[in-house]
Amino acid sequence: MKIFLDTANIEQIKQMCELGIVDGVTTNPTLVAKEKGKFNNLSELISTICDIVKGPVSVEAISDDAEGIVSEAEKFSKISKYIVVKVPMTKEGLKAVKILSGKNIKTNITLIFSANQALLAAKAGADYVSPFIGRLDDISHEGMQIIADIHEIFSNYAFNTEIIVASIRHPLHVVEAAKIGAGVATIPFDVLDKMFRHPLTDMGIEKFKADFEKVKEEYKI
Ligand code: E4P
Repeated sequence: MKIFLDTANIEQIKQMCELGIVDGVTTNPTLVAKEKGKFNNLSELISTICDIVKGPVSVEAISDDAEGIVSEAEKFSKISKYIVVKVPMTKEGLKAVKILSGKNIKTNITLIFSANQALLAAKAGADYVSPFIGRLDDISHEGMQIIADIHEIFSNYAFNTEIIVASIRHPLHVVEAAKIGAGVATIPFDVLDKMFRHPLTDMGIEKFKADFEKVKEEYKI
């Protein structure tokens, strides 16, 4: 499973990329708004992210109509070869995706909340779909069920569209997504950070250090 980092924060991206476990980044208007004041404009922020990640970087178009989305996408795609344009799951959005796939601009249909929306996005030629599981859990729907449904549907018809499990809230979401076989999980920094940790690992390291301390003079290298 590919791991994308769900953030626009440069320090967080640098930190996780150094560990060699990040395959891409997803941003959205809320996440880029949090970085206000750190860069002169959005292009500069996105270009910096692309330089660090060197993998797919999603940036969201905010126009409502297909023409506006395509025009934003064309501008974004000039920033870097790694750009993936996030397009909202609307009729105009799908119209834009069809046009953009003809122009070889990669797309990620965002704000997917049902298997039918994912099916339509795949038929329109989207490279990625982003079902938001945490937001479904928030309203008492089983978010992970739509990942299983979409995974099954895409396998039935051999669509090339990849599933990005989005709106991840805790490490168990990642385990469940991986067990289903989703291609990508986009994970917030704090959730990814928790995935490294286990109290038994920390206790084990302490014990090994303490035991070796007793013989370190004898075993000097
Ligand atoms: C996905 O690409 C989105 O940026 C993200 O996962 C949204 O998650 P949220 O529900 O935590 O805002």
